[in-house]
Amino acid sequence: MSSHIPIHGNYHGYYAKRPSPHLSDTRLRLLPAGTFTNATVLDVGCNEGWVTCEIGLNGHDELAPEAQVYGAAKVVGVDIDESLVEAAWRRRRAVWSLQAPPTTSTTTLHPTEPRAAAEPNISDSPPKKKRKRTVPKNTPTTQAPVPPATQQHDADPVPDLPARAYFPASCLHEFGPQPIPPSIKGEVQGERGSGRGKTAFPHNVSFRAADWTATDIPEDKAGYDVIVVFSLTKWIHLHALDTGLTAFFQKLHRVLRPGGTLVLEPQPWESYTKARRMSPTLKENYSKLLLRPEGFGEVLREVGFAGPVRMGCGGEGGFERPVHVYTKL
Ligand SMILES: C[S@@+](CC[C@H](N)C(=O)[O-])C[C@H]1O[C@@H](n2cnc3c(N)ncnc32)[C@H](O)[C@@H]1O
Repeated sequence: MSSHIPIHGNYHGYYAKRPSPHLSDTRLRLLPAGTFTNATVLDVGCNEGWVTCEIGLNGHDELAPEAQVYGAAKVVGVDIDESLVEAAWRRRRAVWSLQAPPTTSTTTLHPTEPRAAAEPNISDSPPKKKRKRTVPKNTPTTQAPVPPATQQHDADPVPDLPARAYFPASCLHEFGPQPIPPSIKGEVQGERGSGRGKTAFPHNVSFRAADWTATDIPEDKAGYDVIVVFSLTKWIHLHALDTGLTAFFQKLHRVLRPGGTLVLEPQPWESYTKARRMSPTLKENYSKLLLRPEGFGEVLREVGFAGPVRMGCGGEGGFERPVHVYTKL
């Protein structure tokens, strides 16, 4: 995207700016246990993919047995901003790189193994594009490249990894992001280390760049068990007005499977005031809005959802927002 003004809420470094970025997402922790287990999940407005990756983590961690394991079978993150989607793919690889090593014999490389053994990830990666050089010209060739996520832009810190990371983030500096071994066809999800099937992390996590309000992505066709919409409604509302937001709710209903779950974290109306200043169009659109976040429940029920079940507020330090769960009837 050419504009540096995040008129879609397409903030870079968004997660690093949230309080306690190293912890698992507080909004996810509000949800009933099992919400994502073996589910096919869509994360709309996935930004840099932190939440998407966390939902997809499905290995048991011996070091943190109390940690949440969401264990989705498949998670797709979609975002309107292509550069954020690229960062999301890097995030996926960074999370993968710091997970516990395999407990059974596989070809998985370990961060303490020599970099020279690393093979490029050919089987399971974002769509190939011309790669920018990520290593400074004067870097000795024997040195592992710095993970791209650490040099993407000023706002990008060393990736903070979920509490479930096994290796310290310094391993990424030292050895670079590790290659992801190809998934094994037909293998079912299992404990991390043995689970190399399509439903094991990171193979179960992927990303798409698209304006999801206007474009269907291929995964929409099969539908989803759970859709996560965190801090997105304001941006769709300000761009597409009341009718566009209603159409978005209708699309959520269409692509959810019967009995499916919509997890919604709408931004409060007061937060629209600052956002509208980002562009004359948003300012003009703001003045046309009749619908308020308090009224979203009614629209969603008209569309065919039951709910909401109010899960409480997630986030902290200015990000405290209600998390609501709806069910497709
Ligand atoms: C404020 S961020 C929220 C990120 C994330 N959902 C979270 O709360 O952790 C909103 C994200 O939605 C994305 N977005 C806005 N409009 C979108 C659209 N029409 N389709 C897909 N993504 C969109 C933005 O690029 C941005 O990354």
